[in-house]
Amino acid sequence: MAGLGTVLSVGAAGRVFSVTNTAMMAPAILGGRSALDHAKWIKWPVWNPETDEKRVLEVLRSGVWSRSTVVSEFETEWAKILGVKRSLAVVNGTNALIVALNQLHIHAGDEVIVPPYTFIATIQAILANSAMPVFVDIDPETFQIDPSKIEAKITSRTKAILPVHILGLPADMDRIMAIAKKHNLVVLEDACQAPLAEINHKKVGTIGDAGCFSFQNSKNIAIGEGGAIISNSDEFMDRCFSFQNLGYPYGSTIGTVSNSSVMQGTKVRFTEYQAAIGLAQLQRLDEQTTKRNLNAGYLKKIMSEIPGILPYKLYDNVTRAAFHLFAFRYKKELFKGLSRDKFLKALQAEGIPAQGGYIPLNTQPYLEQTFRSVAYKKAYPAEMLDFNKFKERNKCRNNDQVCTEAVWIPQNVLLAEKSDMDAITFAIEKIHGNAEKINNTI
Ligand SMILES: Cc1ncc(COP(=O)(O)O)c(C=O)c1O
Repeated sequence: MAGLGTVLSVGAAGRVFSVTNTAMMAPAILGGRSALDHAKWIKWPVWNPETDEKRVLEVLRSGVWSRSTVVSEFETEWAKILGVKRSLAVVNGTNALIVALNQLHIHAGDEVIVPPYTFIATIQAILANSAMPVFVDIDPETFQIDPSKIEAKITSRTKAILPVHILGLPADMDRIMAIAKKHNLVVLEDACQAPLAEINHKKVGTIGDAGCFSFQNSKNIAIGEGGAIISNSDEFMDRCFSFQNLGYPYGSTIGTVSNSSVMQGTKVRFTEYQAAIGLAQLQRLDEQTTKRNLNAGYLKKIMSEIPGILPYKLYDNVTRAAFHLFAFRYKKELFKGLSRDKFLKALQAEGIPAQGGYIPLNTQPYLEQTFRSVAYKKAYPAEMLDFNKFKERNKCRNNDQVCTEAVWIPQNVLLAEKSDMDAITFAIEKIHGNAEKINNTI
């Protein structure tokens, strides 16, 4: 029953919201009451001093801060959670990708197939190994690499496919693996945003030859910085271990440093205090993931009733997503031409920390600069390094469009209550109903 002063508001999609006064029906950006309290979202990262600090303090007080037993414990735990044989923690997800590509033997002269809808680190990891990114367009409904467009991009130089489970939503791995098998390509999964996401109950990252994760501060497993490589191949993982530890041989005693290096390497080792933080974060991951799935599913259902709001789609075989971000496409035509920028401002005024997401990575100056380097000139014919021709070959029209339409809501919002998902939808309804007014005022 509506209480005193309560108004029933019918939104654009016919949903009925009860609001306590008419001021709440005006969009916050035009002076109405915001749909949500800005301060209410769960502060990220979650940290519980009582349960989480004991291990971290033990490490700090032990004076053993470089890689040792706590890192090994974290790796064992992460591998167990994923159902994979081995895990190797390193300084961040970027270096996890760099090391993994290197030890999958991706080097100068090789091409790596990759989607343009990703964080720059994915592409930088390819360039760090002197390889050539080949961009394959995305499916705008799922935001993931479109498998139907991969085969046309395979050449005699293609060595790997690097699918990215972007937004924490699984890419279409069944089709990607079939293509890789047919063309004898290695598959490295960038699962940096997708811990615990699953396809047919199999965790992403464990499907290809290897997978990489990120534990950067905003990620679903937040350590500040951190990353991991996972694989079922002992031989590959031993080489990764050695490579991230200056090429020292990797034996059965984890953390042992021999005095003779057996291969080229770098030093990107994880630390004990990072691992202690990570062990605390892993305790919460499953429960948080369940909550994100429930809230995302509900939010998607109610939000998609609003004209012009097109939430992400999952492939049929996805059994769980990680929801690093809740994403939808915003069609301004159905919001009286209100630009995405203004829509975002209006959402933020309602207390929703929404962002616009990625810009196209296949046309940016970092590529041109790399192609001008001596190393690239030695490894590739001039034709391949002509930037205009590169951009022409790597056009991704769906991605260009998605980059202008995407709206992201960060994962910590999905840890709130179901009623908050209603409030988010109500906020969008308000904006929808007042789109023309907003457009003319701000
Ligand atoms: C898709 C993707 N790949 C790679 C990375 C790199 O991870 P990191 O920031 O830990 O280096 C990130 C995260 O930042 C990411 O989102």
